[in-house]
Amino acid sequence: MFENFKTPEELIPSDPRFGCGPSLIPVEFVEKLVATNMHLLGTSHRKSAIKNLVKEVQEGLRSYFKVPANYQIVLGNGGATLLFDMIALGIVDRKAAHFTCGEFSNKWFKSTDLVPWISAVEHTVEYGQGIDGQNVDDADLIAVTLNETSTGVQLSALPEVDEDTLLAIDATSGAGQIPCDVSKTDIFFFSPQKVFASEGGLWVAFLSPKAVYRAMRISEDSDRYVPGIMNWKTALTNSEKNQTYNTPSVSTLFYLNEQIKLMNELGYDKVCNLAQEKATFLYNWANEKDYLSPYIAEEKYRSTAVACIDLDEKYDANALIKLLADEKVVYGIDAYRKLGRNQFRISLFHNVTLDNLKKLTQIIDMAIQQEK
Ligand SMILES: Cc1ncc(COP(=O)(O)O)c(C=O)c1O
Repeated sequence: MFENFKTPEELIPSDPRFGCGPSLIPVEFVEKLVATNMHLLGTSHRKSAIKNLVKEVQEGLRSYFKVPANYQIVLGNGGATLLFDMIALGIVDRKAAHFTCGEFSNKWFKSTDLVPWISAVEHTVEYGQGIDGQNVDDADLIAVTLNETSTGVQLSALPEVDEDTLLAIDATSGAGQIPCDVSKTDIFFFSPQKVFASEGGLWVAFLSPKAVYRAMRISEDSDRYVPGIMNWKTALTNSEKNQTYNTPSVSTLFYLNEQIKLMNELGYDKVCNLAQEKATFLYNWANEKDYLSPYIAEEKYRSTAVACIDLDEKYDANALIKLLADEKVVYGIDAYRKLGRNQFRISLFHNVTLDNLKKLTQIIDMAIQQEK
């Protein structure tokens, strides 16, 4: 199937990367990094060149997300996955309630559930459905996922939690382009290799005063052993000095900073609107074609960062995906592997242009027409 298809020259996207993570890093960022020559890469994170970079990242994020002045912006190594454990070990008191709807939110629940002293409860829905979460009596932390990357489901509203409960939100693949009032969250965290067009390995978290208080209390509780790399007090102290506890990847920080500057030029609202425009275009396309359908039935949960679109079983999505990748025309549009669906999962991240998305849809349509 599709073996005779060749992408016409005029439909070749200017950038073939449509993957949902890592996402495309603009070539200009790489060129800018190269231009720093001998003056950045290979510099200690305790020296001013890197500390200034971290400071710029923190200030840029504060301004972009309108992070309240009394929130801490903390960075560390290990990505969002490390934070799953770090939050469980260092912020959950006794009970956490997780709202899950796919692979990543479920993985977070499982991390918490493995901690012997925590009682973790999972509230879940079938894959393809959305869930917003709510306060749960006697849970001291509520865990929700802003954008479930495996299924393309986003939150439609933030849950309201009790005064002494913390709201933690894994915003990894939606942070920056899915609207979210971070002042209504206690721990808002993400890895930078999605909307923020950087590399993996780093985590970023915004902590409310309530979350800092809890983290400090547990850090200082001598009965609970927490590995040094997961210690919140250490992470907070280092971040206050524009540092990470251990050595970070300088290029990751550099790309992240470039993307924050780029997005700050537009502002959060405008970036969210552009994402919505791309999402509307793709979901309309999926609705119009008889061989396509949006995977997420309920519109309010359809992600504006990751679009999952099912293809009629008559056509083999993977065969087309492989052909386009072999042609070096389109990369990364395969469904999340464990989902096992005949599906395209397409990134709507900020640097993926509407123009290229239009070309991608035309390529897919043309390939299908040839098989009809
Ligand atoms: C929603 C979500 N959470 C967590 C992660 C894990 O991030 P990392 O690989 O940076 O640890 C991912 C990665 O894709 C994700 O999409």
